[in-house]
Amino acid sequence: MKARDVVVVDGVRTAFGRAGEKGFFWHTRADDMAVKVIRELLRRNPGVAPEMVEENVWGATTQEGDQGITLGRTSALLAGLPASCSGCSVDRMCAGGLTAITTAASEVALGACDIAIAGGVEHMGHHPMGATADPNPRFLTDRLVSEDALVMGKTAENLHDMFPEITKEMADEYSIHSQMRTARGYAEGKIQKMIVPMTVYTKEGWIVADRDQQPRPETTMEGLASLKTPFRVQGKVTPGNSSGLNDGASAVLLMSEEKAAQLGIQGRLRLKGYAYAGVKPEIMGYGPIPSTKKALERSGLGIEDIDIIELNEAFAVQAIIFMKEFGLKFPEDPRLNLLGGSIAFGHPLAASGPRLVMHLLSLFADRPDLRYGMTSMCVGLGQGATTIWENTNYRG
Ligand SMILES: CC(C)(COP(=O)(O)OP(=O)(O)OC[C@H]1O[C@@H](n2cnc3c(N)ncnc32)[C@H](O)[C@@H]1OP(=O)(O)O)[C@@H](O)C(=O)NCCC(=O)NCCS
Repeated sequence: MKARDVVVVDGVRTAFGRAGEKGFFWHTRADDMAVKVIRELLRRNPGVAPEMVEENVWGATTQEGDQGITLGRTSALLAGLPASCSGCSVDRMCAGGLTAITTAASEVALGACDIAIAGGVEHMGHHPMGATADPNPRFLTDRLVSEDALVMGKTAENLHDMFPEITKEMADEYSIHSQMRTARGYAEGKIQKMIVPMTVYTKEGWIVADRDQQPRPETTMEGLASLKTPFRVQGKVTPGNSSGLNDGASAVLLMSEEKAAQLGIQGRLRLKGYAYAGVKPEIMGYGPIPSTKKALERSGLGIEDIDIIELNEAFAVQAIIFMKEFGLKFPEDPRLNLLGGSIAFGHPLAASGPRLVMHLLSLFADRPDLRYGMTSMCVGLGQGATTIWENTNYRG
């Protein structure tokens, strides 16, 4: 079986809300958020008729309640895709949406289907992290993992222990840059273009959720210095240098490059390669390092070939370790997270991967001089996920 080239045509997301009663999605179902995104993808791409979509893959970390009953299938039916469109759900926690993308892309590459939608949704308000999980007690009784492995903030404190040269001040400085870049992305109107406004019911009545709720452009080093360290007494990880708890949905439209040409549609990103890798669960933020090395090696590229890097910011310390390993400039590198990151936007787990791919779409749109882009993220219980893409608009 010969693999075919796979392209991303478009990507859309909801605004990211704050999880909990103060969040604008508190009274909105997670599956309705997925449906909104699917319908918007179809609306924005009239060359793709609903009956052409053959597969709908969705990631979610908690697959029950409004994120249950095989979300890929339910959201396809609810969005008005025909009954012929199959659907499934995948889970790789933070990389759930990215796994949906590589799963759907692999189906397209192997000729199992021509056109697919792949996304991720997480309503962390309705499904607080780990709330209904029942981890096997043997994890702890048999010392398979340290107790820290189950609390992501503690794994970030462990990374600070592992790399003592990364201080709390550095984590805070990095976070300010994330906030500033996000503010710039909004000021330039680039973020708004990726968001489908959604009318939602809140305590204040009906509102339109069209901007992320979490960004704090006013963040200062003094403000960050005063924050509590919820994961360790006198620790280094704070609400200001962590991603938050959020609700959101995002997805991309994928097809074979052959199909895109047939339909006269421009595929904008060509999948060049991807890889997942595992590390010790108690240092889960280290995951992007081996997954990136593996993805680069298997794609026949080096980090110097990558023009744009979209790195998920679960915690600042984890992003800084990645920068250090791959020789990126601290606190800002001209290739990294140019439109900001999860410390500002928030991180509705499975919804973040497609957001990173969307940022590549946006950044490559007016840069035919840039060829390769990468997304990378760490994953709870110790994994890394990296995808590498080629700008189809590259003109050397
Ligand atoms: C760190 C964490 C526990 C904080 O949760 P929280 O306490 O609900 O967060 P909040 O947004 O209410 O912020 C707490 C305080 O910090 C303040 N704060 C947050 N960011 C700030 C910033 N950039 N500047 C100034 N103050 C800030 C808030 O105003 C709030 O102050 P208050 O208590 O006076 O109201 C939570 O965001 C978390 O668990 N993050 C990690 C998520 C995660 O593990 N994801 C998976 C990754 S693998």
